[in-house]
Amino acid sequence: MLIAGNWKMFKGPEEARRFCLELRDVELPLDVDVVVCPPFVSLESAVQVLAGTEIGVFAQNCHWEREGAFTGEVSAAMLRELGVYGTIVGHSERRQFFGETDETVARRTAAALEAGLQVIACVGETEAERDAGETESVLRRQLSVLEADDNLVIAYEPVWAIGTGRTATPELAHEAHEIVKSVLDVPVLYGGSVKPENARGLLARTVVDGALVGGASLELDSFEAICRAASPS
Ligand code: PGA
Repeated sequence: MLIAGNWKMFKGPEEARRFCLELRDVELPLDVDVVVCPPFVSLESAVQVLAGTEIGVFAQNCHWEREGAFTGEVSAAMLRELGVYGTIVGHSERRQFFGETDETVARRTAAALEAGLQVIACVGETEAERDAGETESVLRRQLSVLEADDNLVIAYEPVWAIGTGRTATPELAHEAHEIVKSVLDVPVLYGGSVKPENARGLLARTVVDGALVGGASLELDSFEAICRAASPS
């Protein structure tokens, strides 16, 4: 089981440091891998505070070139140098607002894996695509550019469930995760309004290998509760 907290554009270096200090003292279930994904500027303080713990620090994006004239981008090599363990790639907010395409997601993923980072690559349909019965074809298209890898995890995040409070039912998540797994034999996280109240039902599904948590990962209590819900013991 993997529980990853996607902080999005929240928590600057000082707030990240304080949160990680508290998180470090929480007794998290041993059978759950816990990861936080701070914004770039807060990665260093998270890495420092969580050094020597089992909690991993991931970035939220990474460029495919090692270095170059790419204003505003950060490379996998730079993240590695900082002690970052992995990265999210292809989050729907990047696809929606920052022109990320299947092609750029594929390039970012390949480069990050090549550099030795773990990757959580995000896929998921919009509400219009689901209503049009296109969920499976959208997922297949988004996944078609990726290759299975020991360090690759897919996050299935239906866009209509992100930050909306509308969670996919466990049945619906199950169906989508089966589609993902039929294309790529890798662990699949569910993401989209995961809360302490709905986490257990979703994570109880055999095809759900963890969760990518946004809003509920910003508060220690709710993040801890979701980590606990991920442990069958
Ligand atoms: P949410 O975000 O939990 O706030 O819906 C999930 C995500 O975007 O990764």
